[in-house]
Amino acid sequence: MKVNKAYKIVTTKSLFEMKQNNDKISMLTAYDYSLAKIIDRAGIDVILVGDSASNVFAGHETTLPITLDQMIYHASSVVKATKRALVVVDLPFGSYQSDSSGALKSAIRIMKESGAHAVKLEGGESQKQSIERILQAGIPVMGHLGLTPQSIYKFGTYTVRAQEKIEAEKLINDSLLLEKIGCFGIVLEKIPAKLAEKIASKLNIPVIGIGAGKNVDGQVLVVNDMLGMNKEFSPRFLRRYADLDSLIDKAVKNYSDDVKRGDFPNNNEQY
Ligand code: KIV
Repeated sequence: MKVNKAYKIVTTKSLFEMKQNNDKISMLTAYDYSLAKIIDRAGIDVILVGDSASNVFAGHETTLPITLDQMIYHASSVVKATKRALVVVDLPFGSYQSDSSGALKSAIRIMKESGAHAVKLEGGESQKQSIERILQAGIPVMGHLGLTPQSIYKFGTYTVRAQEKIEAEKLINDSLLLEKIGCFGIVLEKIPAKLAEKIASKLNIPVIGIGAGKNVDGQVLVVNDMLGMNKEFSPRFLRRYADLDSLIDKAVKNYSDDVKRGDFPNNNEQY
């Protein structure tokens, strides 16, 4: 993998420089120490402790049930494993929407108790006050627009967002606003590639896409999905880089067979 040595340790400033230098930014989720260690060593620029942990780790249908305490638990495990990447943590549903002082308290807990480097939250104009308050406390904020899974019951479906002109215009305005108030980057999820390209070209801060086409400044995927651990989930935007489901299935079956046959452990595997 091409690890850009110019960015020895990734900071929000280096992400900005990557955009200016046309160096694409790689971002993946992680939720635990072991996987985060491998991901960081492989040279991923940004590790997102996503609230997708609610789905892929805890087995919930949506991202809504995961709590702030659970996000902090995941984040502190990831931070301990990370030497190079910037660690960004999702503010979970319910931890920032009530008011800006609640949002700040949640962001402070994440930073203090996990040691992460930044937070991410969903929404544009509607979250302006909260974002400003968090930024004033010196906490870097990443925005998240387009398909925002915490609002799934408002949308009613996980289909592509901003296909209509009105929603596309709002998305552009929200993106510009997030840059203006000081976000260091934005995730755009599941929107038309042309629209994402337009937004990325208008902004000076990096735009990271998931299902938003290639003409943005970087890409993010959920690690369990790209490693093929979640076979039921196969949206068009997902590329699978491994088939861990089959690999783990085979390994577990082999182990179980060996145990049942009395073949494990052998003489060299005992004391
Ligand atoms: O929670 C998550 O994994 C995310 C990504 C899909 C961007 O927010």
